[in-house]
Amino acid sequence: MITGKYPSLRLRRSRKYNWSRKLVRENNLSSSDLIYPIFLIEGKNRNQPIKTMPGVYRHSIDQLGKIVNNVIKSGIPMVALFPSTPKNKKDNYGSEALNENNLVCRAIRYIKKRFKNNIGIMCDVALDPYTNHGHDGLLKNNYVANDETISVLVKQSILQAQMGCDVIAPSDMMDGRIGSIRKSLDKNKFQDVQILSYAVKFASNFYGPFRDAIGSKKSLKSNKKNYQMDFSNSNESLREVALDIKEGADMVMVKPGLPYLDIIQKVKTNFKIPVLAYQVSGEYSLIKNGIRNKYVNEDTIIESLLCFKRAGASAIVSYFALDIAKKL
Ligand code: PBG
Repeated sequence: MITGKYPSLRLRRSRKYNWSRKLVRENNLSSSDLIYPIFLIEGKNRNQPIKTMPGVYRHSIDQLGKIVNNVIKSGIPMVALFPSTPKNKKDNYGSEALNENNLVCRAIRYIKKRFKNNIGIMCDVALDPYTNHGHDGLLKNNYVANDETISVLVKQSILQAQMGCDVIAPSDMMDGRIGSIRKSLDKNKFQDVQILSYAVKFASNFYGPFRDAIGSKKSLKSNKKNYQMDFSNSNESLREVALDIKEGADMVMVKPGLPYLDIIQKVKTNFKIPVLAYQVSGEYSLIKNGIRNKYVNEDTIIESLLCFKRAGASAIVSYFALDIAKKL
């Protein structure tokens, strides 16, 4: 659709001044678009740096008051909680996931007690922070067993809902888990607890630093290719999303983020539902190192986040969220 031609049409005219660029801007980024992930560790008064994620820390629960207060002040609507479980609490079955005094459960209670509904809390449903083999589910003959895993994930979801979690976010990629979790939440009177399905999660190399952060990297045997999606595929993501919507997902996540903008756009055009994006740990660390080494400047972060909006994302999980929200 070309409505004129050079020299009567000059697209640079609208780019000349900042006021004019603002007027024709098609997408915007605000702090309401961001979700802030927080890593948790045991102990008191601890903020432990994560080597593979410069500028990101594991925090003990007593630090959450300060952090969440900052998050709320910056206008970020939700935090995502991830535990770095002590090694001696990990086992073959990920039993610690069902302990009502595990890190995540205590953190939910701590935040909800202080901040009520002024902040949303989302929690991953998956067993990888709790298993000694680092997989998201139960192993049977060295294979992640689908249906057996679902029965544990359902219990994990109910427990998180009981603690006060607002958004249950299954990131495990088992078939059929959204339906089972929805049914069981409803049966237990948690019909208002939302489900954000990591519907399109690729078996990605960009998760490395995260696995380091939660302490599953060294223990992870082989890879997650028999449950997470093959990164060569695109149409398959529509099948995943269609199933999860039918099973009761309120929102879906595409993960990783920036290398998968095509998938975000495709899902958004095919299903008119909230699509969230996860700018994962590897993406974070690559950009952060680029900035630290002065290969790129700080505005790279805003650019990367705005691209998600352009692709059609409703919100973005990003380790940059808190820093960037302050600047918006
Ligand atoms: C685990 C989980 C992973 C991430 C979020 N939840 C890693 C994995 O599947 O191995 C990755 C997040 C990131 O890299 O920032 N179910």
